[in-house]
Amino acid sequence: MSSPYILLKDLTLAYGDMVAVPKLNFSCDKGELIALLGPSGCGKTTTMRSIAGLLAPQSGQIYIDGKDVTNVPANKREIGLMFQSYALFPHLSGFENVAFGLRIKKLPEAEIVEKTNKGLDTVGLLHLANRKPSEMSGGQQQRLALARSMVMEPKVLLLDEPLSNLDARLRLEMRAELQRVQRETGITMIFVTHDQSEALALADRIVLMKDGLIEQIGTPDELYNKPTSVFAADFLGFENIFEVSNNVIIGDAGKMSLDFKSESGHLAWRPSGVKIGQGKYKAVVKSVAFAGERREYVLDAEIGVIMADVSAQKKSYKIGESLAFDLPKSEAHFIEQAS
Ligand SMILES: Nc1ncnc2c1ncn2[C@@H]1O[C@H](COP(=O)(O)OP(=O)(O)O)[C@@H](O)[C@H]1O
Ligand SMILES: [Mg+2]
Repeated sequence: MSSPYILLKDLTLAYGDMVAVPKLNFSCDKGELIALLGPSGCGKTTTMRSIAGLLAPQSGQIYIDGKDVTNVPANKREIGLMFQSYALFPHLSGFENVAFGLRIKKLPEAEIVEKTNKGLDTVGLLHLANRKPSEMSGGQQQRLALARSMVMEPKVLLLDEPLSNLDARLRLEMRAELQRVQRETGITMIFVTHDQSEALALADRIVLMKDGLIEQIGTPDELYNKPTSVFAADFLGFENIFEVSNNVIIGDAGKMSLDFKSESGHLAWRPSGVKIGQGKYKAVVKSVAFAGERREYVLDAEIGVIMADVSAQKKSYKIGESLAFDLPKSEAHFIEQAS
C-alpha cells in the first residue's frame, strides 16, 4: 500500500490552556475530496489552520506527500486556502486577481498568462477576465477565488465553509462546480462544512467531528445509512432516536412496546420511515407543514415527539387530529453505541 498523502498523527491543538482538538488521527489519499463535518465549535477550522500552518500544534505531526511539515512555515507548505470571506482584490481585474500569486512567484510572463487563462477557463470565467470583482455575481466571485487558489497548483486545497455566504441556488451550483473542478484537476481537497447535505453531496469521504474528536469516518453512503452513534444518526437526519431495552422503546415522555424483537441499544427512524394512518401506535398531530411533494408532521405520541414526513399525495391530517402510526422494523436503524 502506498503511504497516505495527508497524515495527521496524534495532533493536539490548543489555544493557550484550552485544548480544542485532542489527539486527532486522520489520513487521506491523493485526489480525495474530504468533508470535515460537525457542529459549530467542534474544531473544524482549528484543524484546517493547523494543516495550513497557521496554528502550531501542541503535539503530534502533520505529513503532506510523505514529508513531515509540522515545523514548515505556512508559505512553504504548498497549500491553497479558500475561506468563507474570500477576499478578492477589488481594484484588480479577474485576470489580475488570479495572476496575483503567480506574479509573486516571479514566473515568466508567458507562463503567468497561460496558467491564469487556464484557471479562469476551468471555472468558466475566461469571458469575464477583464471585469473587476464588483462587476461579478456572488457565484462568479466565488469561482474567481477558486481559480486564484488553484493556479498556484497547491498540493492540497483547504476550503473552510466556502459556500456558506451564498444563497441556496448558488450554493447548489457551486457544489457541482467544485466537484467538477476537483474531478478534472485531481487536486486533494479538504472541505469544511456544518451542513450534512453539502458533505453528503460532495465528499468522497466524510470526517464527522464532535468536541474536537472524530466521531465517525466513512463514505457518504456509510454515514447516511450506517451511523454508528446516536450523535452521528442525529446529525445525519434520523430525527426519531429512542433507547430500546427488553423490546420496549423509551422516549422523553414515556414507553411503548416494540412489535418486533430488538437488541438493547438505540433504534432510529428517519421522518420518511415513519408510517402514518395505520399501525399499532396512537398520536395527535401537533403541527403539519406542507413542503411541496411532502407533508411534514410533528406528532405527539406516548413516548414523546415523533417527526413524520409523508407524500403529499397521501391523506392529510389536521392539527389536533388523532391518528394511528407505525415505526416499522424495515425502516429501523439499530445503534449499538450507548451515546
Ligand atoms: N482564537 C481562538 N482562541 C481561543 N479559542 C478558540 C479560538 N478559535 C477557536 N477557539 C475555540 O476552539 C474550539 C473549536 O473552534 P473552531 O475550530 O473554530 O470550530 P468550528 O470551525 O468547528 O466551528 C471552540 O471551542 C472555539 O471556541
Ligand atoms: Mg469554523
